[in-house]
Amino acid sequence: MSLRRRLSAAVALTVAAAAGVVMAAGAAAAATRYEAESAPATCDGVIESNHTGFSGSGFCNANNAAGAAAQFTVTAPAAGAATVNIRYANGGTAGRPADVLVNGAVAHAASAFDPTGAWTTWVTKTLTVSLNVGDNTIRLNPTTANGLANLDYLEVDAPTSGKITVWLAGDSTVASNSGSNVVGWGRELGNYLTTDATVVNNAVGGRSVQTWLYESAVTSTKNSAGECVLSSTAYAARWQAMLNASTGMKAGDYLVIQFGINDSSSTCPRHVGTTRYRELLTAMVRAAQQRGAHPVLVTPAAALTCSGSTATPNRGFVTETFDVSTATGTPVIDLHKLSYTLYNSLRFCPFNGDYSSGPVGAFFANDHTHFEAAGARQIAGLVTKAVRDQQLALSAYLR
Ligand code: GCU
Ligand code: CA
Repeated sequence: MSLRRRLSAAVALTVAAAAGVVMAAGAAAAATRYEAESAPATCDGVIESNHTGFSGSGFCNANNAAGAAAQFTVTAPAAGAATVNIRYANGGTAGRPADVLVNGAVAHAASAFDPTGAWTTWVTKTLTVSLNVGDNTIRLNPTTANGLANLDYLEVDAPTSGKITVWLAGDSTVASNSGSNVVGWGRELGNYLTTDATVVNNAVGGRSVQTWLYESAVTSTKNSAGECVLSSTAYAARWQAMLNASTGMKAGDYLVIQFGINDSSSTCPRHVGTTRYRELLTAMVRAAQQRGAHPVLVTPAAALTCSGSTATPNRGFVTETFDVSTATGTPVIDLHKLSYTLYNSLRFCPFNGDYSSGPVGAFFANDHTHFEAAGARQIAGLVTKAVRDQQLALSAYLR
């Protein structure tokens, strides 16, 4: 990109940021759907899909017994009253009342789940409950031997007036700037968020998950397991700051993590094996969860590699990122796939290798990995579109 275009992009960004400051309105409330069949939801029975009309991949058919419950974990960005829509079907002839417990306390005793006429006739029942900031459990506990109605999902419209921080941990494709014209998507993320969300971009160029966490304590020596030896287990200042009880991650915040590019190096200090990658990502996820913050995993942004006229996948650690997602119940945004899919829709392939001109030159800085501001803006757009599409609670903070 030319210097002139670079400058105008910088000016546009400054104007957007300034406009954001005078916007007084808080985030609009957005409903988040929690499917009965998706962890961390639990169902004292079976997940089935034999009665059509459900959303997602199935519904909870709880055992027909008093106390055979279904439980959902829902997230509120701020404390306060939330509207809960419960979608259910009751093809029986009797009502199936259930206590609705919020964080273990009965909020609505023996709430009615009346017959709907057929197991394929799904209806929505609305309740108001009071939620804490962060994660809350909502448990439907049937009070009669008939058990629960079949449950499809819970949709929660939670209060969103709280101010939150979106903490970013990652490499140069996320970092605010790693070189003259290199811009990571983390710098552009704030353009898509309301003024209730502040991005703290702690991504640093060249880092694997391990060097991001431990910086210079990661030595250039490999141990017998093939992992880089640590000279100390003291965390780097950036992660210590994020763990700080008063000034670091707090309930309702988000921790967005994207590594896996530098980790693929065969040599230390960057090298990280797959087991170690999962272990370190899991530790970061757990640290966020312990503070009531919401971790979000992101697979590494794809480089531009072409096979003829097709942009191809090229990053490792995608499977391992999904593994951590499954093991910890953390959402994952598959930015790797989303990014090479974008390169295809932008027809970046075949490519002649010239990063100084044309659409590829305006998107990428000087190589196939690093973005210019315009490319970073589009990648941040992919991340935020996924937040919306996947109905992550963070969507309450999208513009
Ligand atoms: C039927 C129906 C189930 C339902 C059950 C019940 O077996 O197929 O989906 O859960 O009745 O009475 O609870
Ligand atoms: Ca049942």
